[in-house]
Amino acid sequence: MKTYKIASIPGDGVGKEVVLQAERVLNAIAELHGGIAFDFTSFPWSCEYYLEHGTMMPDDGLETLQHFDALFLGAVGNQKLVPDHVSLWGLLIKIRREFEQVINVRPAKLLPGITSPLVNPKDFDLLVVRENSEGEYSSVGGRIYQDEDEIAIQNAVFSRRGTERVMRYAFELAANRRKHVTSATKSNGIVHSMPFWDDIFKEVSRDYAGIKTDSQHIDALAAFFVTHPERFDVIVASNLFGDVLTDIGAAIMGSVGIAPAANINVNGKYPSMFEPVHGSAPDIVGKGIANPIGQIWTAKLMLDSFGEEELGNLLLQSIETVTNSGVLTPDVGGKHSTEDVTSAIISQIKK
Ligand code: NAI
Ligand code: MG
Repeated sequence: MKTYKIASIPGDGVGKEVVLQAERVLNAIAELHGGIAFDFTSFPWSCEYYLEHGTMMPDDGLETLQHFDALFLGAVGNQKLVPDHVSLWGLLIKIRREFEQVINVRPAKLLPGITSPLVNPKDFDLLVVRENSEGEYSSVGGRIYQDEDEIAIQNAVFSRRGTERVMRYAFELAANRRKHVTSATKSNGIVHSMPFWDDIFKEVSRDYAGIKTDSQHIDALAAFFVTHPERFDVIVASNLFGDVLTDIGAAIMGSVGIAPAANINVNGKYPSMFEPVHGSAPDIVGKGIANPIGQIWTAKLMLDSFGEEELGNLLLQSIETVTNSGVLTPDVGGKHSTEDVTSAIISQIKK
């Protein structure tokens, strides 16, 4: 019996509702498989925890988490209790940084039965691989002088190591998909970092002869996500470009409630963290109508990272069968509850 040790951090708001449901689904998969088990340990770290303890997680929180195979997070944030920058930086961003989760992966795919805001979405199925540790989001720079003389300088940081790492990750994923990697660039406007990015993309692509490549400027690429998302397979992007693209990716799927994400540690020193794109959704908390699909699809990404791709695929197929059958929560036009959708997915898995 192979047991995966998972640290669950449901967090705030609907995070608590959907993590519980996704754990039910994972347990159903383990039962079906027979040879694996999931050992969940739940941590109450959240804004409520902050009110009681004055911190989002204990001082030795990271040490505790370090020993798990993966972290499974819901959502963090309750602006009524704690300012967002305190809650996000005290937990989520701390984990991403300290655990060297240098790559962010976000699939976007049209699920059958779910209406995209695009009039003709075709059958898009793409994966954005975003650099998650450097690039435009760096703390290098500063502000000097005052009033009309004031100057702000913000430096982007692109290392050969980080750039090559995210590109190789994208190529490896593409090898198991439709074998096409698109690089998000802007070398016509950004004259140092982006030509560097393009050079490394060319170098790395030489090692992957069977994979088709192209480079698109980020502005045109963002437009293509709306007009022709079906053209893309894997897109590799810097931190900022990837951030923007993934929000478009989530939007064209039809609801932020179904979008999954993974923060990947590639050096094996720390666990990766799996969390849906959505936040704590305070406007629908406690109503039992949060869409569990973002969290459940996120569980599929976690299964893939364990090397359990067959189970991961079974899970996504089950999600698609259920969306196609019309068992949907209100955010995607349905009348069903969080629990109904989860139960339908579990029955589908058992078939
Ligand atoms: P949000 O993602 O929580 O909600 C945006 C809209 O999407 C709301 O109308 C909400 O009802 C809907 N929505 C979100 N998840 C849903 C689901 N599973 N099913 C159905 N509908 C869903 O973003 P918002 O309102 O900007 O932020 C709320 C709180 O969450 C803030 O404190 C924010 O900082 C935090 N947040 C945390 C994130 C994380 O933990 N990764 C990501 C985004 C926001
Ligand atoms: Mg974003």
